[in-house]
Amino acid sequence: MNIPFIDLKAQYHAYQAEIDAAVLEVLAETQFILGPEVGTLEKQLAQYTGAKHAITCANGTDALMLALMALDIQAGDEVITPSFTFMATAEAAAILGAKPVLVDIDAASYNLNPDLLAAKITSKTRAIMPVSLYGQAADMDEINAIAADYSKRLGHKIYVIEDAAQSFGAEYKGKKSCNLSEIACTSFFPSKPLGCYGDGGALFTQDDVLAEKIKALRVHGQTGRYQHTYIGLNSRLDTIQAAVLLVKLKYFAAELHKRSQLGARYTQLLTAVDTISTPAIMPHRTHVYGQYSVRVQKREAFIKKLQEAHIPTAVHYPMPIHKQPCFAYLGYQDADFPVSARVAQDIVSLPMSAFLTEEAMDYIVAVIKK
Ligand SMILES: Cc1ncc(COP(=O)(O)O)c(C=O)c1O
Repeated sequence: MNIPFIDLKAQYHAYQAEIDAAVLEVLAETQFILGPEVGTLEKQLAQYTGAKHAITCANGTDALMLALMALDIQAGDEVITPSFTFMATAEAAAILGAKPVLVDIDAASYNLNPDLLAAKITSKTRAIMPVSLYGQAADMDEINAIAADYSKRLGHKIYVIEDAAQSFGAEYKGKKSCNLSEIACTSFFPSKPLGCYGDGGALFTQDDVLAEKIKALRVHGQTGRYQHTYIGLNSRLDTIQAAVLLVKLKYFAAELHKRSQLGARYTQLLTAVDTISTPAIMPHRTHVYGQYSVRVQKREAFIKKLQEAHIPTAVHYPMPIHKQPCFAYLGYQDADFPVSARVAQDIVSLPMSAFLTEEAMDYIVAVIKK
């Protein structure tokens, strides 16, 4: 049985006629940069998430950087991120010269542990970037409340930027991820819950002033033709990618429903295996299973056995941020982030997409049980 880790081919075949037509239309129009599809997509993304503004850009990493640039984050500022996330979260802060300040994750949700947050806030803290890892929202209410409290105490605003790269479509207390804090960023990397056919990303905010600034920043800080108010980036979503996303967005709710059913089915089938911890869905949330990640004993042997049965796996992530060589200058140790250090050693993601068949899942589970 050939089981892709994420079945992008089956997805393409399902929508092929519409996607091909949409891409060909962009080729015929030739408005490759900020063509009409980009504006239409931004309206639909705003509508979908409930955020007032959606601004697309070239990728999720740029979205994080643009968010920090819009807040004027600079050298010497501190930006809080979880110690267990994809590199981009901490990288976005570091590239602007700010210091990433890391906070350990919660062992059940794998998201930033809000109980450890206040102790990391200093007079230099300018932003907190919780990550809604694997597809469920971080504890956004608790984090927003701590940010608001310390904004008052310190006399300057601490912004909360949700890194929703893996959680587009997830719900938290009835609201959508990307609309849970002042700014949110997502990624349309092909393997993400809503993926395009290359790189892509977006920012979300309710704030009109920030939205205008972000729109300028993604075009070299330009506020009028060849008038550059800010130093910005060249970071736009290609019109072709917007056209692909407009087709996929039509089917996104149905895909999420399928993902949620498949995730629940995996969990039900694997619960009986006592050497495996299945993902917990935290209260008031839905999980979009950007990754279906389990914790196992003897991970290398587990991966090898699955590989022998032609079942692909991936490790998100084998090395937490504090252990990355490029962040050695932060001077952190494993003992500072015990949960991240442990999870990095035993987490592994199983094949997951809306097009994973029950037959394939049964085979995966049978191999795991064996
Ligand atoms: C948590 C997280 N943040 C940021 C990103 C960066 O997104 P992109 O790859 O589109 O730059 C990713 C993508 O893998 C991610 O998983």
